[in-house]
Amino acid sequence: MAEGRRETVIGVIGAGAMGRGIVQVAAQGGMRVLLHDAAPGAAEKGREQVCAMIDRTAEKGRIDPAEAASIKARIEIVDAIAGLAPAELVVEAVVENLEVKRQVFRAVEEAVADGAIIASNTSSIPIATIAAACRVRERVAGLHFFNPVPLMPLVEVIRAPATSEQVVQALIGYGKRMGRVPVAVKDSPGFLVNLGGRAFTTEGLRIHSEGVAAPHEIDAIMRDAGGFRMGPFELMDLTGIDVNFPVSQIIYSGYFHDRRLATMPVHQAMMEAGRYGRKTRQGWYAYDENGNKQAPDPDAGSDAAPAPALRLIEPDGRLVELASRSGADILESDDGVSPLLAAPLGEDASSLAARMKLDPARLVAVDLTGNHAKRLTMMTPPGGDARIAEATLARLRLAGQPVTRIKDSPGFVLQRIRAMIANLGAEMAQIGIASPADIDTAMKLGLNYPQGPLEMAEAMGRRETLQIMQRLQDITGDDRYRPSLWLRRRALLELPMHVPG
Ligand code: NAI
Repeated sequence: MAEGRRETVIGVIGAGAMGRGIVQVAAQGGMRVLLHDAAPGAAEKGREQVCAMIDRTAEKGRIDPAEAASIKARIEIVDAIAGLAPAELVVEAVVENLEVKRQVFRAVEEAVADGAIIASNTSSIPIATIAAACRVRERVAGLHFFNPVPLMPLVEVIRAPATSEQVVQALIGYGKRMGRVPVAVKDSPGFLVNLGGRAFTTEGLRIHSEGVAAPHEIDAIMRDAGGFRMGPFELMDLTGIDVNFPVSQIIYSGYFHDRRLATMPVHQAMMEAGRYGRKTRQGWYAYDENGNKQAPDPDAGSDAAPAPALRLIEPDGRLVELASRSGADILESDDGVSPLLAAPLGEDASSLAARMKLDPARLVAVDLTGNHAKRLTMMTPPGGDARIAEATLARLRLAGQPVTRIKDSPGFVLQRIRAMIANLGAEMAQIGIASPADIDTAMKLGLNYPQGPLEMAEAMGRRETLQIMQRLQDITGDDRYRPSLWLRRRALLELPMHVPG
């Protein structure tokens, strides 16, 4: 090697989707990679696929042909685990089966030098459970990449109870050399990203199961008003319900049935019906032969004459601005016939009507959190006057944005899902899954969220986020919505969400 530096040699076991991606980023990072797979011909085929990917990168002009040639030359096949002896790091990416992984780890232990690190890319098996099969456990850790590896920059470095700090730091270094953004994560069910991601999908499922809104309406609200790349149902269809339902179950049982992590029966029903999403062309949506999603229109329309005047309930600047933009007259006092327009936080329209002794038949609630100028959510309590609702809808549409109409829900759709994400992120900080900054980084890079969960709480307001959770808990009586102590303390003491301790 140039400058007399010793070449870094790493081993990768398993030439499947993940192993191939790891081989590619390691070779691109300048490491010599020894690839092994137990299935005859699999490693050769894997290397060919990686080389084709590298050639394509060169064709696009991202690397020059000479560099492509040297990257490809760094990838070698070894026929047996014993051939991994020169590796200072071995990354295991074989099937998700504990017994198979334990056998592989025992064989790797025999093959490599004492100082070598052995890491698993498992997404659901505790690292400590795999390490229990090993003689020396300090050097065993997780190195959890995301699919497709070359496009997903995040890597979770999983620290098991016995893993040494030196090994964690070394893996962070290897991750960086592979062009990744490493975050150190405690060995715990679902690690960081898969745990943190539960709030988005399970709360979407709960809202749908309560009959509040249909999947396409929830998705449209989360995209337009929430700034998410995809809604929870689109995401489930993309990853596959055959993947996200079992992961939900593993995490739920791993946390001893914490209600915060519970999914809904309809999730299991979809799994059992084989409606996995894009891969079966039928999930929450149907897909045509070109993979195009068939989705109904999430916009509520109204042919009614717009309500001429509105009485605003607990008005703040945003509600006044919306009413003014819609061109309605704003009433100084209730005239007994006009719609009553409110923008509650964490409260359903029914509870609001009862608390303020309002006429529920005329009450219309709108969600003014998030980007409501891109999509407004509107809801009414049961027993509402249909003509009032239609006339209010027609008026709100004159404010210029599409409106999605949902059934009564504490926290509408966006407040509920964002508060659940923020609350779970806060809980992850509380139980030490990772540092607050790494929690945000990982959730943004691993799941494409517009903000990390703690940043989301800051954007919504800490007190407001706490209020949404408290009202959800009060109104539903469900322990699922109990606020994390991390959130509660920072909201009460007016401290930033990233303050440790
Ligand atoms: P895959 O099924 O595409 O590939 C597994 C490969 O391992 C196959 O080529 C198989 O021949 C080989 N293999 C099986 N037993 C072996 C053994 N005893 N010795 C050597 N090779 C063996 O699987 P995939 O998707 O690449 O997953 C691999 C690991 O990565 C699993 O632990 C999985 O949970 C994890 N993971 C998967 C992600 C995904 O989205 N697919 C994401 C993150 C982690």
